[in-house]
Amino acid sequence: MTPNQNAFHIQTFGCQMNERDSETLAGMLTEMGYVETTDKKAANVAIINTCSVRENADKRFFGTLGQLKKIKEVRPDFVVCICGCMMQQQHIIDTVKSKYPWVDLIFGTHNIHAFPALLQNVRDEKVKQVAVLADGGDIVEGLPAKREFRHKAFVNIMYGCDNFCTYCIVPFTRGRERSRKPDDILKEVLGLVDDGVKEITLLGQNVNSYRGEAMDFADLIRLLNKVEGLERIRFMTSHPKDLSDKLIDAYRTCEKLKPYIHLPVQSGSDRVLERMNRKYTAGEYLALIDKLKAVAPDLSISTDIIVGFPGETEEDFEETLALCHKVRFDSAFTFIYSVRKGTPAEHYGDQVPESVKHERFNRLVEVINHYAAEKNKAYEGRVVSVLVDGPSKTDPDMVSGRTDTFKLVDFPGEGRMPGDIVNVEITQGKTFSLRGIESR
Ligand code: 5AD
Ligand code: SF4
Repeated sequence: MTPNQNAFHIQTFGCQMNERDSETLAGMLTEMGYVETTDKKAANVAIINTCSVRENADKRFFGTLGQLKKIKEVRPDFVVCICGCMMQQQHIIDTVKSKYPWVDLIFGTHNIHAFPALLQNVRDEKVKQVAVLADGGDIVEGLPAKREFRHKAFVNIMYGCDNFCTYCIVPFTRGRERSRKPDDILKEVLGLVDDGVKEITLLGQNVNSYRGEAMDFADLIRLLNKVEGLERIRFMTSHPKDLSDKLIDAYRTCEKLKPYIHLPVQSGSDRVLERMNRKYTAGEYLALIDKLKAVAPDLSISTDIIVGFPGETEEDFEETLALCHKVRFDSAFTFIYSVRKGTPAEHYGDQVPESVKHERFNRLVEVINHYAAEKNKAYEGRVVSVLVDGPSKTDPDMVSGRTDTFKLVDFPGEGRMPGDIVNVEITQGKTFSLRGIESR
């Protein structure tokens, strides 16, 4: 940082969508001449990009705001901006305005493109700003992005969600489903590949319902599969109700679509699935898994599961465990149900007691970890292709990367750089990662 240069700090909570939004904000700030800093105290502009899906999101958010207040007290010109899913909820905005009046800028998930102008106003005019649209508006193309990795990138293909699962806040915070045009996506991907990107992850709340002009999601994958220089395509998230045979077949016909899928099941009980408004049964989910495994035998599968949804009985929960025993997931994000204000399930009367939820959660995690370890153990002795991300976060003497199947691998990899694709022989399969040695 040169003296007097403006610096920014972004703290991001939540999912890949939020991470991608933060990349856009960082890109805009970089274009405005700011530099990024990891030290809040060294920044002139601090942004908190909030999440309302993860548990205790409110507590963590208000905790972080408290830290920023201390900086603001000694430096009144320190600009505090808050954005993301939480800002799409009126009760949060009301709380911020009454208890945290020193916050300078509040903007929502649909106002990201307006951020540079809003910030400039705050800094020039010294006025506080609130800009939150209730719903999406047009998709704004061509916004810059500052990415963490040179060799891999998130690519939004759609925004919003129309599914209204009864526990979920996302349709209220991210608005109605909107797809980007295939040409715009292709243009972005070509630019990324030119820039050294080898792997893209296509992002959307439910990529399976992508509709860009005449193209569905499988057509889009086929289009991107032709991009020269691109090595790997992934996507998230998929809703089982919209996972078409055509898309399943893309695992066979598109060599760049790698054998990994994140397919949230949420519950193994048909009764609970119906009350969640998921629109599939456990049997239909299992049939999809069979179809997927038939076209991609090496497929690794991860999922999301919620325990303790209102009305979930011991029998319902045992059906979830039974489903896990049948599918043998490679990994799972497990959630304890908690009420989101404004969702239909908030008003369900039969909430499950906390102690029961926790007890079920622990039993579920045990089953999930058992299969995760078993799946990883089966990699021992295999040679797999690994895209190197950089130094390992757990062991500075190692580098880490991901297999085609999205498994995290640590290996010595001396001299290996982010973006290298190397063959690694797996020597140890642990519960959450693999270890190996390079096979030259
Ligand atoms: N309680 C618990 N988990 C939830 N999720 C979404 N809303 C809730 C909630 N109210 C989980 C779902 C979703 C993941 C991103 O978060 O499993 O797939
Ligand atoms: Fe939420 Fe359901 Fe939409 Fe996923 S599909 S974002 S769980 S409403």
